[in-house]
Amino acid sequence: MGRRTSSLDANRLQAIGRPLLAWYSRAKRDLPWRRSRDPYAVWVSEIMLQQTQVERVRDSFVRFMAAFPDVHTLANATEDEVLRLWEGLGYYRRARQLHAAAKQIVVRHAGLFPRSVDGLLELPGIGRYTAGAIASIAMNISAPILEANSRRVLARLAAHAAPPDAGGADAALWTLAAAIVPRRHPGRFNQALMDLGAMVCTPRQPRCTACPLAACCAAHQQGREAEIPGRPRRRATESIRESAIVARIGDRVLVLRRGPGEWWEGLWDFPRLSAVGRGLSPAIERSPLLGPLRCGPPQRLGSLTHSVTHHRIAVAVVGCEAVRRGRRAAGLAWVPLAKIGRLAMTSPGRRIAKLAAEWLPE
Ligand code: ADE
Repeated sequence: MGRRTSSLDANRLQAIGRPLLAWYSRAKRDLPWRRSRDPYAVWVSEIMLQQTQVERVRDSFVRFMAAFPDVHTLANATEDEVLRLWEGLGYYRRARQLHAAAKQIVVRHAGLFPRSVDGLLELPGIGRYTAGAIASIAMNISAPILEANSRRVLARLAAHAAPPDAGGADAALWTLAAAIVPRRHPGRFNQALMDLGAMVCTPRQPRCTACPLAACCAAHQQGREAEIPGRPRRRATESIRESAIVARIGDRVLVLRRGPGEWWEGLWDFPRLSAVGRGLSPAIERSPLLGPLRCGPPQRLGSLTHSVTHHRIAVAVVGCEAVRRGRRAAGLAWVPLAKIGRLAMTSPGRRIAKLAAEWLPE
């Protein structure tokens, strides 16, 4: 094999099953969702794991399953309850789709999960990876998966250097994944690939001396494990400055529910304005978002920064005493600060509520 070759040769990789599964039996991670092969539990965990790190998912998964132990409980919950239990995981669209899929499973499938990849793909929020994971782990169907960790393992085994976002790069790896997933223990095989990627075949400084597959790894043989897979080009970060308004009347503060198409759709937050500093008072009085609101001079309560996709947002948190409430509007509510914990809220919203509580001690 030449030095710069890619070897997407599935036959050569049929041999990885035995050493991989032996390694998995010894080294696998103890994760709460691995104690059940109930499709519901596997599904919930896989949706949580789509865009959130394993360590963050652990506790949220246990809490979510305690609140909604089966698909019927989830289908019967309100969207607010579901979003409230999704707090901390981010990407709330997943929670709304999970809820919609639960209803679909109850209404169209009598509460039973479709038992094929194609059937699973018809549910909201389930793409090729998640369908393969549920089918293989919960149903013992020999279906492939490709997610960040297993993708890196396969790319190195095959010396496939293209970065994940390069056009067509993933099609070749899906074909490879499909060719090597075994008939026996496909779920263990897929989870072993993910664990190997997370624990041994790491993005930087992979531990090839501890790898059960080093002998058949083309990247390792070519000494190219540091450069494979190539890194995706990062989108430039965009900086934004905003003010978050904590308007109060007595013990109540004004909160707003994020609307369709906005970041954090369906979650509560404090109203935000793009004006900062001196321009803020007139902006509050004029803002159609706030009512508009009549209020006293704004006071600085603190600041925070947070990120959404490729935006870095610096938020000045400002308190003001409202003289009277603005016009009533759907999605706006005056809520006692002590009860704000009951709302499904954005994580910066929670941080703003803490600053508000320091300003308005009980
Ligand atoms: N990442 C996505 N799915 C996973 C799983 N089932 N186990 C570990 N990591 C994962």
